[in-house]
Amino acid sequence: MCATVPPELHNRKPAFRRDLLAWYDTHARDLPWRRAPSLYRTVVSEFMLQQTQVKTMLPYFTRWLTVFPDFATLAAASEAAVVKQWEGLGYYTRARNLHRLAQHLVALPALPRTRDEWQALPGIGPYTSAAITSIALNAPAAVVDGNVVRLLARVTADATPYRDSSHAATAFTPLADALLSPARPGDYNQAVMELGATVCHRRAPRCSVCPVRPYCAASARGEPEAFPRLATKIIEKKTVPRAWCERDGALLLRRGEAGVRRLADLHELPTAADLGLTAAAIAAYPLLATKRRSVTRYAITEPIHRVPAPPAPLAPTLLWCPRAYLSHLTLSGPHRRWIEELWI
Ligand code: ADE
Repeated sequence: MCATVPPELHNRKPAFRRDLLAWYDTHARDLPWRRAPSLYRTVVSEFMLQQTQVKTMLPYFTRWLTVFPDFATLAAASEAAVVKQWEGLGYYTRARNLHRLAQHLVALPALPRTRDEWQALPGIGPYTSAAITSIALNAPAAVVDGNVVRLLARVTADATPYRDSSHAATAFTPLADALLSPARPGDYNQAVMELGATVCHRRAPRCSVCPVRPYCAASARGEPEAFPRLATKIIEKKTVPRAWCERDGALLLRRGEAGVRRLADLHELPTAADLGLTAAAIAAYPLLATKRRSVTRYAITEPIHRVPAPPAPLAPTLLWCPRAYLSHLTLSGPHRRWIEELWI
């Protein structure tokens, strides 16, 4: 296990930091939360970036800041309004956690300053507490996300097989802490993540332009892609047949399930089960489209069949949505895309 700084890197820590930070100073992307940093902007950007790439979340970040410019406005908003602004970003628990966090923070006499204080707050784990306090408060806390693990595993050519990325993150935390720049911890953290995202790619890393190539054991061996050694993720396949049911200019939708946090307030096309149909029964109706998406470890196939309207009364989990009302509901991102494509 790679717990500490390997001897060949030990004496070169200052040079490693210097070269990485010099690269960041000239190559960092011009991102809104970097241009005008504040605690609130850092918190929002870090929540949005937890499972989403920069280029996807950028328009959401800009819109979010106009609708919820500070913790107080966010705390005072309804959960439905918060989830609506998150629509399309996925992993909606992040939006609810951010909302709860804002409500918690505005009730405190002062904003917390240390990493430990942040980590004690709802919805904040080791990664987020380190990112927020290093970037916004200059705290000496190293972040360890997938990008950081990849970079450090390559620099050290660490051959330990890890069960998953969270075990690898734990194993690399002491090394990340040891390499962190005490003078510029926030910039150092962003530099490592930036390098992981733009140069040290999982496949075909761009070693020829990498500022830390002189320190990288995996690159020296000519096999950067061999690291980190992570067990292959087991992906489970699922098929969820969906119903396309239109009547008098309205489309039948299922409401988000209040009991399922991930789905609360999120509307989707009804499943076969919502209409009391078996998979075999719905498959007998005309197939309108077959869609695919991934959610966590599931690869989900959703065949959409055109079915006749169910008899009244409608189950309380279902609703008729007139076309003009669609934009007022919160839908899961893929379902909004599919509905807009298929509703002609
Ligand atoms: N990923 C998560 N947070 C980031 C940041 N601040 N800069 C670059 N990539 C990130």
